[in-house]
Amino acid sequence: MANKSVAIVSGAARGLGRSFAQRLSSEGYEVLAFDIDRDVLEIPGVEGLVADVSKREDVETVIGAVNELGVLKVLVNNAGAWKRTPVDSSWEQALQDWDYIMDTNLRGVLMLSRAAIPYMKDQGGDIINISSYYVLPARSGGTNPPDTDLYNASKWALNGFTDAWAKYLEEYKIKVNGMCMGAVDTPMLRGLYPDEKLPADMAAVVMSSEQIAQQLMDIVSSERTGENFGAWVGEPVSIGEQPPVHRRITG
Ligand SMILES: NC(=O)c1ccc[n+]([C@@H]2O[C@H](COP(=O)([O-])OP(=O)(O)OC[C@H]3O[C@@H](n4cnc5c(N)ncnc54)[C@H](O)[C@@H]3O)[C@@H](O)[C@H]2O)c1
Repeated sequence: MANKSVAIVSGAARGLGRSFAQRLSSEGYEVLAFDIDRDVLEIPGVEGLVADVSKREDVETVIGAVNELGVLKVLVNNAGAWKRTPVDSSWEQALQDWDYIMDTNLRGVLMLSRAAIPYMKDQGGDIINISSYYVLPARSGGTNPPDTDLYNASKWALNGFTDAWAKYLEEYKIKVNGMCMGAVDTPMLRGLYPDEKLPADMAAVVMSSEQIAQQLMDIVSSERTGENFGAWVGEPVSIGEQPPVHRRITG
């Protein structure tokens, strides 16, 4: 058991996280999947834990379970909080929304990754930050609608983690990448529509979480690091060609 490869997936009770956990398990990983939702305990073949990524003690419990399973090779920072945040809401509301979104989407990523990195340094591995196509505006026709400014800001901030950690962790053979998908058929997306029913034009093009899980495996199998990989509705999902690497002049 001790030399088995372990993968951690946050927010795995449903949606993308569940597909990532199932796919990693089918690829032979010992998967440690956690969520605030108890449904995470029902995923076949996966070690489920009820835990909140925004709580330090919960993150420590998750990481504390790694050594019994094997060696940590993959961390998928998937758990995400979404909420409509109109720019004309009150300050009080905005600050409450800030805590709700940033505690999971950023503080959680910071804590889980900081806790996980020492477990990966000996053998290398992958950290995957689940972002959004909003951070690739050149391809997505601009950034997202203004009533989701905080969610948007949280995903842009992930770029800072991805970029800085990729450089710092290269010497330990830890790759760090972002996945920046458009619409994927999950409960989060369906929650945007009445009766959780996707409109016909969306249903016709929406991506599946299994397609994105395939892209995750392609990233893990590649040597590439420090990138944001896009996935676009209506287009084949792949990791595409490696973009030109720009030399850093200062800093
Ligand atoms: N579905 C899409 O179209 C889409 C597009 C771009 C990016 N994303 C991103 O993909 C990720 C997964 O999204 P999804 O669509 O599967 O969402 P989802 O809401 O269907 O699932 C998210 C899961 O995360 C869990 N979670 C939330 N806060 C948590 C916390 N503090 N601790 C532990 N678990 C927590 C939820 O309980 C839920 O099971 C998110 O980061 C989201 O921002 C989704």
